[in-house]
Amino acid sequence: MEIVVLPTPADIARVAADRIANLVHKRPDAVLGLATGSSPLPLYQELARRHREEGLSFAQSSAFLLDEYVGLSPDHPEAYRNVIRREFVSLVDIAESAVHSPSGTAADISAACAAYEKEMQAAGGVDIQILGIGTDGHIAFNEPASSLTSRTRVTTLTEQTREDNARFFDSIDDVPMHVVTQGLGTIMEAREIILIATGANKAEAVAQLVEGPISAFWPATVLQNHQHITVFADEEAGAELKLRSYYDHMYRNRPEV
Ligand code: F6R
Repeated sequence: MEIVVLPTPADIARVAADRIANLVHKRPDAVLGLATGSSPLPLYQELARRHREEGLSFAQSSAFLLDEYVGLSPDHPEAYRNVIRREFVSLVDIAESAVHSPSGTAADISAACAAYEKEMQAAGGVDIQILGIGTDGHIAFNEPASSLTSRTRVTTLTEQTREDNARFFDSIDDVPMHVVTQGLGTIMEAREIILIATGANKAEAVAQLVEGPISAFWPATVLQNHQHITVFADEEAGAELKLRSYYDHMYRNRPEV
């Protein structure tokens, strides 16, 4: 794992955007894995700025979302399909039809989950997956006790996650209880992963992710088994890392390959 602690979310956005821009320059038809939530917003804004001011183009790229609330109307502003349209897709030139998302309203959700996995495979898999992390260590919505090999499925949010996400709704009662989420096994198939963690409330989850034992209790720890992952944390989110000075040393002296 590469662990990069930078002073601010804006610094993370710039360095993470470089990774994505490099990929898209090399492979214009790259498959992006997109997360919603607050953590990737500065990155999406930076990519949108590069699109506007520097001609960074996603015209040939496609994208897959990680998750969706179950039962939220497709018109609801907090349905993740709408969030990603607002925060990223509408700000760049990626085709709306090239952006795929799991369905939270399909009549047969299990069949829709299996079809979503097939769609991802047919696209050749995800080249670069952007992730946030929950305060309870979830990635996508793989909550504690998720199987480390899980696939796209319906699952139940913890009360902690519903409380964390209540800020996007009028009240916690409006936060759906269930979600469709890519599984940990699904996410692990992405060729490269960028995880972004900002703010003091992520410090424990980041310390577990990087330095804890691999365990379904902290689902993000499965990422220790990924061969190409960068964990970006701001100062606050990196505050509980025991080997912080080594990670800084490693980043300053990274080999030019
Ligand atoms: C959202 C997602 C979640 C969030 C996580 C952190 O698509 O997959 O895992 O990344 O809940 O959310 P924020 O960034 O809002 O703190």
